[in-house]
Amino acid sequence: MDGDTIDGRLVDAGSGLIDRRIFSDKDIFEQEMKQVFGKSWLFVGHESQIPNKGDYFTSQAGRDAVVVTRDSDGEVRVMLNVCTHRGMPVCRYDKGNAKRFTCPYHGWTFSNNGDLSGLPLSTEGYGGQLDRKKWGLIQARVTLYYGSIWATFDETVPPFEDTLGDMAVMLRDFMQGPDGEDDGLEVIDGILKFEIHSNWKFGAENNAGDLYHDVSHNSVQRVGLALSGLRGRHVWNADKHLFKTLNVAYPAGGHAARVNLYDDEQREYHPQWAVIPEVDEYFRAAHYARQERLGEKARLLNRGGIVFPNIAYNSAGRWQITMWVPRAPNRTEVWKWYFVPKNAPQKVKDTLRHYLLRYGGPSGMVEQDDIENWASAQVGAESAAANRLPMNYTLHMGQARWAWPVPWFGEGAYVDEGVSEHAQRIFYAHWAEMMGGPVSGQETGR
Ligand code: FES
Ligand code: FE
Repeated sequence: MDGDTIDGRLVDAGSGLIDRRIFSDKDIFEQEMKQVFGKSWLFVGHESQIPNKGDYFTSQAGRDAVVVTRDSDGEVRVMLNVCTHRGMPVCRYDKGNAKRFTCPYHGWTFSNNGDLSGLPLSTEGYGGQLDRKKWGLIQARVTLYYGSIWATFDETVPPFEDTLGDMAVMLRDFMQGPDGEDDGLEVIDGILKFEIHSNWKFGAENNAGDLYHDVSHNSVQRVGLALSGLRGRHVWNADKHLFKTLNVAYPAGGHAARVNLYDDEQREYHPQWAVIPEVDEYFRAAHYARQERLGEKARLLNRGGIVFPNIAYNSAGRWQITMWVPRAPNRTEVWKWYFVPKNAPQKVKDTLRHYLLRYGGPSGMVEQDDIENWASAQVGAESAAANRLPMNYTLHMGQARWAWPVPWFGEGAYVDEGVSEHAQRIFYAHWAEMMGGPVSGQETGR
């Protein structure tokens, strides 16, 4: 992070240029763990993973391992999975049900609400003086948002909904699922986890709104992965009512969504699952019920996006959350939660589970294209010779408008149309703000 950057900046949102070293430099990585991950609300899981008192699962809040419990009083807790004695993980399972966690090293025991409830040699060794209240598991602040669970260990971060801003419209729409219920989704049991040799930001920025990379998925398009049999992954490409594809970015929080806007809220249903009539019937009914429920807002189809910094969601038939767990500048763990509509018939849930596994993850047909892209881009980011030129994010610059073209995106929405790197510029501008570095182009030129 010396002066040898783009005009003294790592990220120049105004010019759309980004120094390659933000993907490879160790000091930058350590700084973003503190300044970006340490100061953000982070997704850790979903309430459907812990329906009963005593249920728990382990997860990650950035680099920090956490255990998420529904304690004996029914309260959801997110606690550092670090024994307060010498730092061992107190929970070594992915999930389960327990009243307490006993550390395998010296046996300190913590209740499922984090209290230090068992202390070997309490009297003989500590004279009964050790303050158990002080030495409980370290607790995160927790926000439950339509089934999703968010946490931060920082006391100064504003409330979750403040950091979400107008992005709340999109996240809520996603979490509600096709039936529009407040906790409309449930997790398919088992979180998919794999490691990629790439910086975490490549995945995040791609999901912010990289509509430019369809060429990567050409082979899948030719195969015709969509169950409708259409030559194309997305049935919406065939919809004559598709009016605009929009990159809806929220500069205040760095979030972004990819949205289809239709010219008619009453558009007809396009069969996506025609080969399985029972599934098609469910989605057909959900389609018309949504129009009824939302009125004019049914013109919007929320396809996916990111909640800054490291969470992507995919909606509209491929309900999933992807989390990038940063391990090193060139090493990222990817965790995927696949969801199904909670009240859907079992046949629909099974079909979606098969579809999602065929689509995503390292064994899926689509996502392995992306994984290869990001790992290869990492090699370019680490090249000293390549660093004479910054990364180029200038596609479709200067075209975005505030709260356009529909007011219900919220006043905080800064929107561009079509294939653009607008959402990536917003992502990096916000990243740079959190890193505390000088950034240009805050108001114009994005
Ligand atoms: Fe947990 Fe010692 S490290 S009891
Ligand atoms: Fe992709």
